[in-house]
Order: sequence, then C-alpha cells, then structure tokens
Amino acid sequence: MKVYRDIRLLRREIGRLKRKGKTVGFVPTMGFLHEGHLSLVRRARKDSDCVVVSIFVNPVQFGPNEDFKEYPRELKKDLALCKRCGVDMVFVPGVRSMYPEGFSTYLNVEGLTEGLCGAKRPRHFRGVTTVVAKLFNIVSPDIAYFGQKDAQQAIVIKRMVKDLALPVKIKVMPIVREKDDLAMSSRNTYLDRDSRKQAASLHKSLKAARELYKKGEKDSKKIISRMRNLILAEKDAEIDYIVIVDPETLMDVKKISGKTLVALAVRIGKTRLIDNVILN
Ligand code: PAF
Repeated sequence: MKVYRDIRLLRREIGRLKRKGKTVGFVPTMGFLHEGHLSLVRRARKDSDCVVVSIFVNPVQFGPNEDFKEYPRELKKDLALCKRCGVDMVFVPGVRSMYPEGFSTYLNVEGLTEGLCGAKRPRHFRGVTTVVAKLFNIVSPDIAYFGQKDAQQAIVIKRMVKDLALPVKIKVMPIVREKDDLAMSSRNTYLDRDSRKQAASLHKSLKAARELYKKGEKDSKKIISRMRNLILAEKDAEIDYIVIVDPETLMDVKKISGKTLVALAVRIGKTRLIDNVILN
C-alpha cells in the first residue's frame, strides 16, 4: 500500500495503471475509519483492480460554528485498517494542496442541497461537491463509493455526476450499524454513555416508521408524529428535521406510495446525528 500526499505523484501512478487497462475503485473519506467505511472499501476491493482511499478532513464543508477542529483524526490507525482491507493507495492531501492560495472555484448543486441538512448547514454540500469533484478529477475513478447513511450527500453527488457527465459510476452502500443499531459515524465518538443510550431513539423511531408503514399507514404526518414522540421522550434530544421524501428529488411525500426515504437529523446534547430508512 502506498501513501500519497502529492496530487501529481498520485495522478502519475493512477495514469500508469489506467494505461494498462486497470480499473480504479475510490472511497473518499474524512478518516477516523469505522466499519461503515470499511464496507465501502471491501466492496471496492471486489469490484476493481486498484482501490484508492482518500483521507481528508475537508474544512470547506464545515460551518463556522461546527466541529472542524474537534473532528476526530487517527491517521496511523486509518492507514493500518486500509492496509488490512487490501487498499492499494491512500491519498492524504494537505489543506494547501486541495485549497491553494487564492482558491475560488466552488461547485454547487442547486435545489437538492437546500432542504434537510442543507437548511441548517447552508454551505455544507457546496463544500462536499467541491472537494468530491476535485478528488474525482485527481483520482479518475471508474466507481466511487458512498454510504447510504449520508443519504442526501449520495443523492447530491449522483446529481452532480449526472449533470456534469462525470465519467464515474456512483455506488451507494447500505448503512452499517453498531450492536445497539446506532448508525456508524465518526461523530459517535462524541457521545458519552448516557447520550449514546438516548441516541438509540433515532433508530427506534425509524423502525417504528417502518412498522407503521407495514401495517398500512400511508400518511406521512401520522408517521412523523409517532417518530417525534419517540425521539422527544429522550431528555437531551432536539429534532433538527424528520422528513418523508422522494429518494431522488427530496420533495415531501404526503401519502406514501412508491419507494420513499424517511430521514432525520437529531441533536443529542451537542452531537448532531443523522439516520434514515427506505420504505419500499
Ligand atoms: O462523507 C464524507 O466523509 C465526506 O463528506 C466526503 C464525501 C469524504 C467529502 O469530504
């Protein structure tokens, strides 16, 4: 496994492999890797000749009062995990090489980025699409992998790829959960024991949504109301949003008929968590 910090050197090596007809699978991450990331890496390992992982805590996708500084970083452990999973190349750029002096080119997907997480985090997706487009441009992957936990991110990236005719296939992999069903996230590390217990209400409410739907409930308002009650029973829980939306357009669905996304963001104390489920 090779570790690259330099864009030019990584590009040169990938170019060499591509000229030999090798395929590249790419997993972009912000590090502090967990089973969720590793499930993407394992899938990439199965699909492609060469697996590239990027580790870069992207400052541009954090708001001014968000956790960029505190975001957990553990490069040594991340590299060991990558090696164990058969990664070929890890790209660990510095902030200056991703955002050189005078950087002023941002990419924004309109509409899809305005609701859900975008409503409270107005520049977040602009930061995500900008860095992902740049990473795609550097790595030239045939397939790139994203987790379903960040459902809106995956939808936005698919839109960007389609709109700009980027030559990459996007694969979205299922949510990986902890033993207590909490969706795996690097931010789970912020939760103390008590908050962790309260965080179980996110999945509990999504499960309730699925059960209500299975029993024949199609009214989104009623389902959301049940979910709200379950979450607000926890003393430190503050709901950012609970939505039932079309999984491509993110438009509200009032009466559920086809494939539908139930997504939520909840603060437990200072930690903001997201989770979702697809009703089919
Ligand atoms: O999902 C993430 O970890 C990040 O948003 C991503 C896609 C690596 C971009 O920084």
